[in-house]
Amino acid sequence: MKAAVLKAFGSPLAIETVPAPVLGTGEVIVDVMASRVLAYANEVLSGERKYLMELPMVPGPGAIGRVCATGPDATHLAVGDFVYCDPTVRSRDDARAPDIILQGLTSGSQGALRLQRYFHDGAWAEQLRVPTENAIKIGTIAEVDAARWCALGTLLVPYGGFLAAQLQAGETVLVNGATGSFGSAAVAVALGMGAACVIATGRNEQALADLVRRFGPRVRTVPMRGVEEDDRKQILQAAPGPIDCVLDILPPAANTTQVRTAIMAVRPYGRVVLMGGVLDGAGLGLPYSWMMRNCITVRGQWMYPPHATILMTGLIQAGLISLDQFHVTPFNLDDANAAVAHAAKDSGAFRMTVIQPQQPR
Ligand SMILES: NC(=O)c1ccc[n+]([C@@H]2O[C@H](COP(=O)([O-])OP(=O)(O)OC[C@H]3O[C@@H](n4cnc5c(N)ncnc54)[C@H](OP(=O)(O)O)[C@@H]3O)[C@@H](O)[C@H]2O)c1
Repeated sequence: MKAAVLKAFGSPLAIETVPAPVLGTGEVIVDVMASRVLAYANEVLSGERKYLMELPMVPGPGAIGRVCATGPDATHLAVGDFVYCDPTVRSRDDARAPDIILQGLTSGSQGALRLQRYFHDGAWAEQLRVPTENAIKIGTIAEVDAARWCALGTLLVPYGGFLAAQLQAGETVLVNGATGSFGSAAVAVALGMGAACVIATGRNEQALADLVRRFGPRVRTVPMRGVEEDDRKQILQAAPGPIDCVLDILPPAANTTQVRTAIMAVRPYGRVVLMGGVLDGAGLGLPYSWMMRNCITVRGQWMYPPHATILMTGLIQAGLISLDQFHVTPFNLDDANAAVAHAAKDSGAFRMTVIQPQQPR
């Protein structure tokens, strides 16, 4: 089969013929219709992000595809089913604290490398082998819509955060970093889950205004100027009442002051979820007594639980979250390098670059 192979960090992807995946027990082989290209895929493939990948590797985290073959343990999947291939692969030998890899992107820890050695290759190929539980049915869709359905991979990330925070319909949410790719998706997801109001922060005022244009008055925007006390005052003034839940999804370039600005806007007994890539080693500097006396919950969240795709598919099928928000630029597998370059240039809210290894019929 044809695949895009990363042989060394910093080298272009080689488009070449590789052996097709072989089915084992507990796995599914999927014909890949479409796979999303992250805006920062170039930083991953250059080695800049220092993601744990043993090369050579076929990159590509997640896909929309059709089941080609199932193992003997599959009781629901059938050949031809449309599925989301969830890149969040968990080790099966420790239910309490499974190792996680993102198939085709990174091994979360040194320990998880063993898992990555087995579920090694990602979706920028004509076929993909995934654990049975990672091929999740999305119902019948038109093949031409497969590229748009790749937005699942973006929407599911903040959804994982809101599930972790037990977001309730009617609550007020703050999305910190709302103008980025995952942050803007967080706004759509919070609204789809029934948030009464979403406070959206960012430095780009045009991008903030676009969120209001798309979603209307349930979104209130606050431009961030980088002065902690002032920025937080603006956030609290914009909110219609106490902020129940804060989701932070800032990128590595952001600093912890930007994160703390948002965290400390949460109400007493409020919940905060940290999902961004912030690297600043200084720590968050959260006042111990503020957290203790206000019964604040702060937790991290990587990705989303296994059942999230089923629920998110329901939100989309019911029209509560619209895939039409996303502008999709498709590329053939032969043009994978151009797709990576395009994704970096065309990043931001509701922009999506997709590689289509199998053309829609
Ligand atoms: N936890 C998880 O499961 C998970 C999954 C996927 C990704 N992530 C993380 O989420 C992060 C965000 O991803 P993304 O694709 O949404 O990023 P992105 O598109 O680059 O957006 C980040 C936004 O952050 C804002 N920002 C604030 N301070 C910034 C600064 N100092 N430098 C650059 N931008 C700044 C920018 O908006 P303004 O210019 O308007 O401020 C930008 O639009 C990723 O870096 C990744 O590490 C986490």
